[in-house]
Amino acid sequence: MGGTHLLLALVLHLSIFFSIYASNVHIVYMGERHHSEPQITQDSHHGILSDVLGSKEAATASMLYSYRHGFSGFAAVLTEAQAKLIADFPGVVRVIPNHILRLHTTRSWDFLRLEPETACGLLWKSQSGSGSIIGIMDTGVWPESKSFKEDGMDDIPSHWKGICQEGEGFNRSNCNRKLIGARWYIKGYEAEYGSLDTSSVFEFLSPRDAVGHGTHTSSIAAGAFVRNASFLGLARGLARGGAHDARISVYKVCWATGGCSSADLLAAFDDAISDGVDVISVSLGSSPPLAPYIEDVVAIGSFHAVDKGIVVVCSAGNSGPYPQTIQNTAPWLTTVAASTIDRAFPIAITLGNNWTFVGQSLYSGEQEDRFYPLVYAEDIALVDVDYNKARSCDTESLNATLARGKVVLCFQSQLQNPVASALETVREVEGIALIFAQFPTNDVITSMAIPCVQVDFEIGTVLLNYIEKVRNPVVKFGLTKTTIGTLISPEVAFFSSRGPSSLSPSILKPDIAAPGMNILASWSPASSSTDMGLRAPPLNFKIESGTSMACPHISGIVALLKSIHPHWSPAAIKSALITTASIKDEYGQNMAAEGSPHKIADPFDYGGGHVDPNKAADPGLIYDTRIKDHISFLCSMGYNNSAISSMTRHRIICNKTSWSQVDLNLPSISIPHLRKPLTVSRTVTNVGPVTSVYIAHVEAPPGVMVSVKPWILLFNSTVKKQKFKVSFFSQLRVQGRYSFGSLSWTDGVHVVRIPLVVRTVIDEFYMDS
Ligand SMILES: *[C@@H]1O[C@H](CO)[C@@H](O)[C@H](O)[C@H]1NC(C)=O
Ligand SMILES: *[C@@H]1O[C@H](CO)[C@@H](O)[C@H](O)[C@H]1NC(C)=O
Ligand SMILES: *[C@@H]1O[C@H](CO)[C@@H](O)[C@H](O)[C@H]1NC(C)=O
Ligand SMILES: *[C@@H]1O[C@H](CO)[C@@H](O)[C@H](O)[C@H]1NC(C)=O
Ligand SMILES: *[C@@H]1O[C@H](CO)[C@@H](O)[C@H](O)[C@H]1NC(C)=O
Ligand SMILES: *[C@@H]1O[C@H](CO)[C@@H](O)[C@H](O)[C@H]1NC(C)=O
Ligand SMILES: *[C@@H]1O[C@H](CO)[C@@H](O)[C@H](O)[C@H]1NC(C)=O
Repeated sequence: MGGTHLLLALVLHLSIFFSIYASNVHIVYMGERHHSEPQITQDSHHGILSDVLGSKEAATASMLYSYRHGFSGFAAVLTEAQAKLIADFPGVVRVIPNHILRLHTTRSWDFLRLEPETACGLLWKSQSGSGSIIGIMDTGVWPESKSFKEDGMDDIPSHWKGICQEGEGFNRSNCNRKLIGARWYIKGYEAEYGSLDTSSVFEFLSPRDAVGHGTHTSSIAAGAFVRNASFLGLARGLARGGAHDARISVYKVCWATGGCSSADLLAAFDDAISDGVDVISVSLGSSPPLAPYIEDVVAIGSFHAVDKGIVVVCSAGNSGPYPQTIQNTAPWLTTVAASTIDRAFPIAITLGNNWTFVGQSLYSGEQEDRFYPLVYAEDIALVDVDYNKARSCDTESLNATLARGKVVLCFQSQLQNPVASALETVREVEGIALIFAQFPTNDVITSMAIPCVQVDFEIGTVLLNYIEKVRNPVVKFGLTKTTIGTLISPEVAFFSSRGPSSLSPSILKPDIAAPGMNILASWSPASSSTDMGLRAPPLNFKIESGTSMACPHISGIVALLKSIHPHWSPAAIKSALITTASIKDEYGQNMAAEGSPHKIADPFDYGGGHVDPNKAADPGLIYDTRIKDHISFLCSMGYNNSAISSMTRHRIICNKTSWSQVDLNLPSISIPHLRKPLTVSRTVTNVGPVTSVYIAHVEAPPGVMVSVKPWILLFNSTVKKQKFKVSFFSQLRVQGRYSFGSLSWTDGVHVVRIPLVVRTVIDEFYMDS
């Protein structure tokens, strides 16, 4: 238990630290570079800083990074007054205080186990991806992992210009034809927290991963085949990445204490752009309130990357199932929600009266085939403890004398991850097992010390009635089984952050869903000793959940698509993913979303749907966007002309005309405020057979009339692009909720489907009259 508490204490400690010392590190963002020669750009940064600080020496001491490859700017230690001065310098887009971002894993300190996940099964049969390079911005890498072996790999792609940066426990021989690059960034972090002392914090001042998260995400995206992979000998099978022939370059920006500095992250984007990566995978972010795109380093870094043809894939966040919790919402990003996978772990629960129920469990230890006494947590509460706390087996709520040797039944009281703390509590009071009743979920945690059986509230209620009725309630468990494929269809995971975007609701987010629950992948063997206070042998593989794990699934698929279609823009690739995504399972049932209530999934849960990699390779039509579309979008966000001009290096005068965010040529239409009839335009590009005829099919959102003009599109050798208009007219006389529909273009072979999201708004003026 010490581990969890220590960790909580540490997090708490850091947040106090934050509030006392306001950030002194500032990012001075200057937009697109003016010179192709990095040295000239760097000199100009030193010039500005010297002017403000009064000397060259002071400037050198204050400067943390000069961003000069992918874009222009610098990070420096500045007072508020100095920061204000610099903001007025010509060419400065924004001065942004340094900020700490977080990894998107739900339970980094929780042990889980499973067989390798198979959702991308069809995809990895493809031998492609070897020409693509995926940049992973995370906690670094454990290079000795079998997932990063170079056996059978071709030469490194010629467009690679990166390096293998050395450091503590990491030298050039740790890179190979698989792990082709590695860099690490800590200046922004240390300027914030003081220097990282590796004698008190377990870390490596190098690209080496002390946490495991970066090793996990890297191996999901592009890990080589590892046969007979296992977690403590419990699960055995094949572990492999999405694009197992693609190359990996790691950018370590997050540190064992849990944070990632935005100044460091921006430096990683700057390098990754010039290193020649094809895809950037970012499994981190910061929760709402969301910063304006012009002050958000993920949005800024990715803007320049996407402008240079690099696809940037981000995790959606783990703050679901609540609406408006989505993160990383810039329209040029591909934002990934997490889904569950088609696997269940049933375990039989038998009561003394021979009634039998099915729960879920992942217990790895020995178990006797006999009945144990069963108690309800509330009945064994400590004196003076709130019954609500005891009912959910909150920390220090149970009486050890009464719990010892018994199976304890607890009921969930909050949504996020209480089963792990209930397990911890029951273990502390020497209960023999935990039965945890909660809303239905596929999220099963592993238990090593004592069995943990998860049931839904319905079964939990039956068990409780049984306890209250009989004099000596007893229970016995069967063995856990693993069933694959047939029992459950993928669902959106409860923790996956949901749309609409709180910053720009006209841009539908998330974009797509991919597996992110109970994913087996490589781990850093150095990190396991610190897990949950339990002593475990070094782990080479581990099971993790989070949108952090969903993101690299898409990054791997993008690497494959890039190798098939090297000239497709990031927007085209994103369009291919979204328009071919599936919204039904193999039995034709609509995909569901976990949460309360459990419901049919909608675009705020999964964007276009669940990724279907094979179909994405041949989408038929694509919705493409160019830099000028993104500029119009920045204008529509109300950012200032000179800022956008510097950011993009185009002379921009934003027009106060009719261009609206709903006209951004995205593979989705989201209208958050439908007041009067509205017409939206889109353009599609044919990437299928040269001569094609597409017909529109609309499923209108309930309460809204939708028409498409023209409703037939013809393509031939001269006509590659077609424009069409979609008109929306609400029939609702009351303020509506969001409702959902779709528009599909089909030629009989391809179905090019985009989600429609509409909310009717009745103006107060209108209602009064
Ligand atoms: C690099 O590290 C490996 C072990 O990780 C070691 O065997 C090797 O000697 C080192 N090489 C150099 C040049 O330091
Ligand atoms: C898998 O590895 C274990 C040891 O970890 C070994 O005992 C077993 O024989 C291996 N199985 C196969 C099929 O290679
Ligand atoms: C439960 O079933 C077993 C055998 O199936 C039987 O021997 C036992 O009497 C039953 N107990 C009750 C309470 O029905
Ligand atoms: C625990 O329960 C026992 C038995 O009912 C009781 O004597 C004891 O005072 C309880 N301890 C606490 C701390 O509540
Ligand atoms: C843009 O903003 C800067 C500072 O915020 C201001 O000085 C400048 O006048 C603005 N430019 C325009 C065109 O609004
Ligand atoms: C504003 O309108 C002019 C003239 O129509 C056009 O050239 C320019 O590109 C527009 N600016 C933006 C940002 O769209
Ligand atoms: C393609 O279609 C356009 C419009 O229907 C037509 O004008 C043009 O002649 C066609 N081109 C060819 C090569 O058939």
